[in-house]
Amino acid sequence: MLTRRALMGAPLAAAAALSAAPATAAGAFPPGFTWGFAAASAQTEGDAASRGRSIWDDFAERPGAIKDGSNPSEGTDFARRFAEDLDLAAGRGGANAFRFSFAWPRVLPEGAGAPSAAGLAFYDRLLDAMLARGLEPWPTLYHWDLPSALQARGGWPERDTALRFADYAELVGRRFGDRLRRVLVLNEAEIHAMEGHGKDSHAPGLASREAFFAAAHHLNLGQGLAMRALRAAAPGTALGSAMSLRPVRPAKPGEDAAAERLDALSNRLFLDPPFRAGRYPAILEAELAPWLREGDAALVGQRPDLLGVNYYAPAFAAAGGPFGAEQGDSPYPLPATRMGFMVEPESLATLLRRLRDEYGNPPVWITENGASYEDPAPDAAGVIQDPERRDYLRDHLLAASRAAAEGCDLRGYFCWTLTDNWEWAKGYTQPFGLVAVDRATGRRVPKASLDAFGGWARANRVA
Ligand code: FCB
Repeated sequence: MLTRRALMGAPLAAAAALSAAPATAAGAFPPGFTWGFAAASAQTEGDAASRGRSIWDDFAERPGAIKDGSNPSEGTDFARRFAEDLDLAAGRGGANAFRFSFAWPRVLPEGAGAPSAAGLAFYDRLLDAMLARGLEPWPTLYHWDLPSALQARGGWPERDTALRFADYAELVGRRFGDRLRRVLVLNEAEIHAMEGHGKDSHAPGLASREAFFAAAHHLNLGQGLAMRALRAAAPGTALGSAMSLRPVRPAKPGEDAAAERLDALSNRLFLDPPFRAGRYPAILEAELAPWLREGDAALVGQRPDLLGVNYYAPAFAAAGGPFGAEQGDSPYPLPATRMGFMVEPESLATLLRRLRDEYGNPPVWITENGASYEDPAPDAAGVIQDPERRDYLRDHLLAASRAAAEGCDLRGYFCWTLTDNWEWAKGYTQPFGLVAVDRATGRRVPKASLDAFGGWARANRVA
């Protein structure tokens, strides 16, 4: 594998030869690139009766918490229909990998103690179904669905949750490690800490600075402890987490300090400990101090083997709000998706360059990227035409390809997401999928973007 350092030292002739290599051609990706779809248990599985309760089941009972009043009990019925979905992913979708998450309350209904034999058997079947179709399983251990029993004991603001997480990780590693080349430990700890603990827009619905900083540190600690446990239980499995990352710029001149603070809160709080030997950003140290114990730096500083990047939109910072800095308006016009996310593909390339230049150029997989747009009814041929979603994906893939050509160690791309699904507090109002789901019948209706994505994946090149 050619690193950027190697490139910089390469003689001119070698550099010229490299510029003809496939990764440098516009829209092309390195050989062996991972093409996948990403999804999560609470958003897709359904079949709630055969798992323990999670904080999202509880949160959905709060009046007004979920936009359309729905809850995670239905999902897309993935627990029963996964074979059909995996056929679409590997067939028309052209994927060679599938990202899903283990539901902690399906594996351990009470969060700790006795595992569920039925839950473990379900993931056995799911993994085998992926492998049978040539899809590399990319599990996330924790995509926000904490068992309610652990929330009753304090959840992530309590240190003990990090220890329980390590036990769960060990169990998963022992049982499934033989089939897992790579594992993502946490999904978007920053969003979970902020939206669920700093604000109450996500489960578990806490809203305090203390809960935010405590949860943030304990998520980092849980990540380190889980990596240690997994390295012992499944030594051949490469580890990392999927982080929600974004370039942060000031919303207007004079907001540089707000941008530095928002960057620390949303990017560096989670990126620095594992990639900078356990160090937190200096400007957050005082706020984290109450939760830190002797020896924690070594634990949060467990170095991952890879980094998952979830990218949707850039951020523009303004001073204010309970955390001193918050999302402001873009200083120039940008299009937005139905979700309200600003669309700026070049920011993905900017972000990848930062990881190359400031974080040691780790092997990166884009573990989520995609867009919600309102879809029309199927056309006469039964196809849902979704050119905006296709263009969003294409433009972000082109930006990713440029970054790869500039020496960013980019290894793969997962589209969020295969099927329209339960978008947390937004319920079923945000279609991100390349396949629509008729909620009454469960029927899957591919959108035109699925075939476009499949074409790029098979060619290993976006056009
Ligand atoms: C990310 C989440 C994922 C999905 C997308 C749209 O923040 O990780 O589960 O909701 O946003």
